[in-house]
Formats: sequence, structure tokens, C-alpha cells
Amino acid sequence: AGRCVVAVDGPSGSGKSTVSRRLAVDVGALYLDTGAMYRAITWAVLRSGVDLTDAASVAKVAGEVDLRIGTDPQGYGVTADGVSVDAEIRGAEVTGAVSAVAAVPAVRELLVARQREMITNAGRIVVEGRDIGSVVAPDADLKVFLTASEAARAARRSAEDATDVTATAAALARRDRLDSTRKINPLAQAPDAVVLDTTELGIDQVVARLRDLLNERG
Ligand code: C5P
Repeated sequence: AGRCVVAVDGPSGSGKSTVSRRLAVDVGALYLDTGAMYRAITWAVLRSGVDLTDAASVAKVAGEVDLRIGTDPQGYGVTADGVSVDAEIRGAEVTGAVSAVAAVPAVRELLVARQREMITNAGRIVVEGRDIGSVVAPDADLKVFLTASEAARAARRSAEDATDVTATAAALARRDRLDSTRKINPLAQAPDAVVLDTTELGIDQVVARLRDLLNERG
């Protein structure tokens, strides 16, 4: 089969990662977690000790770090300067700082270029993030925007992280606000995206729906 790019966007806790990976496995595509790239850059920025509000310094660190990410939906690794950061990028410290780092225009420019290059080389790939259908891959074969109620998203995240649901809800709301209101490439629904509310849907149902949509598009 030829080229096929699926863009999956949505807020945190909408089920993006689980659904995207499952879909990629099912259709034999690669998978790119762009959030993990922003997280790995954030890890490097935190390690460097530069001030998060100093955009020039943040951009400098981002430009210098050797970031690598796998595309196997069954398990991909992320390294920064040769250090495996898979666990660290999921920690509270990185999660609390990532929206600030991802709002720096030079960081986005750098990662969007990397993502486009990976997509071009992949051929068949499911890409998840916040700006994939709107900016990174506007010509994607299928664009999906996953949503879910705030309560459902917070419940899913706190189940995943074994954290308190009230604290998780507050952290999610804060991150969504920052990601949706930043000046450059905010979380956005592409006009031609299929919107799917997953509040009442199980993973199998969402994946089945996306497979149907892909088949319809040939
Ligand atoms: O998807 P995940 O929660 O891992 O994303 C972490 C953060 O990375 C988001 O909160 C957002 O600030 C940033 N991000 C982004 N653009 C993307 C993917 C993630 O700005 N395409």
C-alpha cells in the first residue's frame, strides 16, 4: 500500500495515545507521538537549568539537543543526547513545564520540521499531537479530533497515573488552557477533521470507527 497519513489531535486525556497506537498496529502503520518530542526537549531544558521564561535560551537548548524517537507503535524509545528519557518525560516536572516550552516559536519550528521529515520518510503513519491536522500535516488522508468531557479526561489520566482526580483535573485544565491559547500553532480542530467525542466510547469502539473512516477514504 502507498502513502497514508492519519492525523490525530485533541486535548490531554482524550484517548489520543491509546487509540493512535492501536490504530497504527491494526493497519500496519508507524506511529509518531509528537507530545513525546516536546516532552523530551522540555526534559533537556530542565536539565540545562535555563529559565523557562527565557525563550532565547530555551530555543538554544532545543537546537542543541540530539533528540531521537522511534516510530514502532508497539513500543518506541525516546532519547535526548543518548540518554533514554522514556520514564522522565512522563513525570510531574516535565508535564508541568512542557506547555511553556512548547509555546516557544523556535521550538515549534524545529519540531514541526522534524515531524514533517519523519512523515515524508514513513509513508504510512499515524501521528498524534495538538497541531497535526492544522499545521504539521494539513494534507493528511484522515484527520481526527478526539474530545471527551473534562471529567472523563481527568478520570482517565488519574487512573493511568494513580493520582488524585481533583489535582489531575486542575493540572489538565491548566495545560489545555495554555495549549489552546498560545500564539503559535495552538491546539486546534482542522476544519476538515472528523470530531469524535469519546466520553461514552470504549477504545475498541473508537478504533473501529477510525478504521471505518479509513476504509471509506480508500
Ligand atoms: O500529548 P502530550 O500530553 O504528551 O503532550 C505534551 C505537551 O506537548 C502538550 O501539553 C503540549 O503543550 C505539547 N504539544 C504540542 N504540540 C503537539 C504535541 C504536544 O504543543 N503536536
